[in-house]
Parts: sequence; C-alpha cells; structure tokens
Amino acid sequence: MNVKDKYIEFFKSKGHTQIPSAPVVPENDPSVLFNTAGMQPLVPYLKGQKHPYGTRLCDYQKCLRTNDLDSVGDTTHHTFFEMLGNWSLGDYFKKESITWSFEFLTQTLEIPTERLAVSVFKGNSIVQADTETAETWRSLGISEKRIKYLGEEDNWWPNMEAVGPCGPDTEIFYWRSNDPIPEEFNPEDDRWVEIWNNVFMQYMHNEDGSFVELPQKNVDTGMGFERITSVLEGVTDNYKSSIWSDVIRKIEDVSGKPYEGNEKSMRIIADHMRSAVFISADPAGIKPSNTDQGYVLRRLLRRTIRYARMLDIDIQSDWDKQISELIISKYENYYSEIKDNKMVVLDVLSNEKNKFAKTLDKGLKEFEKVIANLKNSTLDKDAAFRLYDTFGFPLELTLELAKEKNISVDIDGFKEKFLEHQNKSRQGSEAKFKGGLSGNGELETKYHTATHLLNAALKLIVNQNIHQKGSNITAERMRFDFNCDHKLTEEEKQKVEQLVNTWIQQELPVTVTEMDKAMAIQSGAECSFIDRYPDKVTVYTIENVSKELCGGPHVKNTRELGKFKIKKEEGISAGVRRIKAILEG
Ligand code: SER
Repeated sequence: MNVKDKYIEFFKSKGHTQIPSAPVVPENDPSVLFNTAGMQPLVPYLKGQKHPYGTRLCDYQKCLRTNDLDSVGDTTHHTFFEMLGNWSLGDYFKKESITWSFEFLTQTLEIPTERLAVSVFKGNSIVQADTETAETWRSLGISEKRIKYLGEEDNWWPNMEAVGPCGPDTEIFYWRSNDPIPEEFNPEDDRWVEIWNNVFMQYMHNEDGSFVELPQKNVDTGMGFERITSVLEGVTDNYKSSIWSDVIRKIEDVSGKPYEGNEKSMRIIADHMRSAVFISADPAGIKPSNTDQGYVLRRLLRRTIRYARMLDIDIQSDWDKQISELIISKYENYYSEIKDNKMVVLDVLSNEKNKFAKTLDKGLKEFEKVIANLKNSTLDKDAAFRLYDTFGFPLELTLELAKEKNISVDIDGFKEKFLEHQNKSRQGSEAKFKGGLSGNGELETKYHTATHLLNAALKLIVNQNIHQKGSNITAERMRFDFNCDHKLTEEEKQKVEQLVNTWIQQELPVTVTEMDKAMAIQSGAECSFIDRYPDKVTVYTIENVSKELCGGPHVKNTRELGKFKIKKEEGISAGVRRIKAILEG
C-alpha cells in the first residue's frame, strides 16, 4: 500500500470521512487559477458553513502552483503535486491533531522518533506563544531541544497579510541524511526537511486588517505526497522515487539518452507533462490559449517541447503520447477525470504539439539571428513580440532562451505591445459579450438589472454555487442560463420570485464603481466570463444583495423594475438550466 492509501485508511480509523479531491481548476473561485493547497476548496467550511460529510475530513488533493515553475528542473520542485490532508471543522483541536500525526508517522510509517523535530509558533501581538502545542509534543516524547519556537514568518499559515481563515501552525521535520542526527534541531540546516504542516485555523483575517476568532476552531493539515514518498524511499532526488522513476525511464527510452547528465531536461518534461495531463483532464475543459489557465497549459507544453528537442527527441514522433499514457495509467485509478477524459487529454496534447512543432524551429532560428545582430545585450520589444506573435513563443520561453545567452529582454516594452495588440482584439470580444444585451433601451436596462437580482436570489434559495452561464434580453423578456443539477421545484421557483420582488419593493439603490479586475474579483464580485473583461472593470452593486462585474447599463433603483414573474424553467444542456422571466407594469 502506498502512503496515500495508508494515510486515508489511518484517518478513516480516526472517524474521518474521505472527501474527493476538488478539481485542479477551482469551480467557484475566480481569484485563483488553480487550487494551490488542500484547504482551498474547504474555505467556506472553515468559516463555519456545514460540510455535508461532517466535521472530520481527509483527502488527497490535486494542487498546482506556478510560482515555482522556473525552479522545476531541480530535485524537489514541481508544478503539480498531491497534498494529503486532514481537517477538523470545529471538532477536535491541537492535542488530537498532533497526537494522530505523531502516531501516523511513528507507527504506520515506522519513522523513528529520533528522526523528527518540530517548530511551534512563538507568539506575536495578536496571538500568544503556542505552549499547548509544545507541551503536547513533549508529552509524546519529542525532546525539548527538538522543539523550536519560531515567528510568524515560519509558523503562521498562510501569512499575516493574506485575507481569509488563518492561524498558527506546527511544522514537522524529518532528518534526511546519513550523517549522525544532531541532538538539537536547527531549522536552518536543510538536512531537516519539513514533511507536514498542522495549521490551527481559528482566525479570520478580514479585509479591514482585523483578526477575529472564527466561530469554530479548525485544524488543517497538509503533507506533500511527493516529499514524504522521497523521504520514506530514502532518495534526495524526487524524480528517483517510485512516483517518477518509471516516467524518467520512459523519457530515457524515447530519447535514447541516460538520465545522468540530462536531469534538468528530463525532470522538466516529466513534471510539465504531468501538470498538462491534469489541467487538460479537468472538467473545466481547459484548452491551450493565451489567457489564464489556458496560457499556463500552453507554457507548460511549449516548454516541454523545447526541452524534448534539446534531448534530440523527434518531435513529430509519438514520444508525448507514450509519456502521457504512462502518466495517465499511474493516476486513473485515483482520479476519475483522468480515466474519463483520457482521449481529450491525448488530443489536446497532440494538437498543441503539432501547432508548436511547426514554428519552434523557425522561431529558434529567428532568435539566433536576432541575437547575432544585437547591438547591445538586450532583446528589444519588437523581437520579443515577434517571437510571441509569429512563432508562438510564450514570453517566459523567450526569457529562458535569453537568460541562457546572458542577455536581457525588454519586458516592459513587450507588455506594452502585448496590451496594444490585446486592445485591438478585445473590441471584438466585448462586442460578443454585449450579445447578451441586444439593446440598451429602457426596458432592456430594467431586464438587465433583474438578471442580477435573479442570479443573487438563485444563489440564496437554491445553491450558492450557481453562476450565470448565459443571458439574452429583449424589450419583452429576459432569459437567464445558470448551472444547476436539478429541475427547480415549484417551491424553489416561488421563493426565488418572491425574493426578487422583495428586493424590488425594498427600493434598493444600484451603484457603480470602477476598479482593477483583480481587486474586483478579490472583493468577491460575481463574474462569469472573466477573460472577457479588461483590466479596469465596472462593478455594479445592489445594496448588499448583489455585486457583479458588468458593463451595464442598469437602472438607478430597483423600484423601477415593476413586478418580476418567472414564466418558464427548463434544462438546456447537461447541468445547465434556463429561466425565462418578465417584468410587469
Ligand atoms: N494549508 C496548509 C498548507 O498548505 C496545511 O494544509 O501547508
């Protein structure tokens, strides 16, 4: 049994329910491109919402982080990884959490206690030193010298600036070396590697800067599966662990080259292809593109192809299919979307390869030509933009090539050109978005405001995860499409209608503000088609009922709407429903 299975079995024996891994592309959180930590999909429940599976949960969660993308190629960094996690939602707290972590490590995984050390929170102006945690560790047999009190930089998760649930944590370290184990724990010594993080998530950090106790005391723990596997298998290069060794062998095979001497290229290919498999298998249906998740997918694949070329792999051969099929076979029993979407994944990968293979060589030649003629050591904006626009080189790829030649790139200039170009193409997509709003007459404007109210009412009455999937407005009626897994009941329809009418009667003011897109999203504004908006957006707020990114126009006050009436509710495709409604008088 591997650690993943042992972990789930252990926490089930402690009364936890296993929850399925959330998709790697968050379903209802437009503020991040990918799930970066196991707790991310659980935020509403850490804040107090009741979880349908109870108060003790465990899982293995798919995570993807792009901040370390450039470090991939060394022995430990990955873009995609799996995190083992267990949670208490207002159930057990520090003592049980620490005791079970210790039991799992020393009994299930049979790690000797003398190889372990811990850090605990030393306190700050908000929260006192975590002596309870230190005391619990001592009672389990961790010696005083192996317990270090560290500050908020180390033992507060995620950090003091991040808005959201947070709290002090205790980190567990493992002595990964054949050198004698020192009696005293020195967190600066990198032979001590962190293997598990137990966060005591009991605060909410609000936007106004205040830290307020959450209604419940939670535990959120996370253990990186790649790291614990390497530790247990006694390897210092993650790619030599059982998670990767067969993938590396496959790359050796398709390239006809040994791992030794080609480590960086092979690690990048292995890591990036695994991430690309998971992104393209996600139910969100991501395809390589020039924005958001699609751009990350494109970057990963194009970087892979470049490194494959450096290994003299024949790009047109089926090397990518062989590697991705192996990766798929390793994960399909754990994640159903990998099994279900296997053909989609293979298709996405080969399409992108075919697209880029055509221009990669030409682009590399172009790059060589440009740098041979450079007057100084900077690649100018026109050359960088041409590599992007004509040869499909993501900026980061150009930066990487330039760095290898010790030249810099006019990044600001590139961005300027990029925005100019984007503005031109955006005019097209804005026109498309307005398609929902076929006219801007008085009646259409009223219907437009009514869609915001309907959207908000559906969330409150039916399901908070409902979002707009489409809308079409004429002077006679509105049509609103939304995700929902069931036909609305009579009662739901009635309640939704009533709530919209209540808001109309309350004569709520409709206000508009302009802000940065990122800010708007962070502030929790509803946004269904994030790519379609420019960086500066308008946000329409209807008192405390609704807040949406929207181009408008809207009425000034909900009293202008008259009476809202649902005429029809029907399914239009899998998981998508449509409401037709009118405003009377
Ligand atoms: N949220 C914490 C982490 O990501 C523990 O799961 O490390």
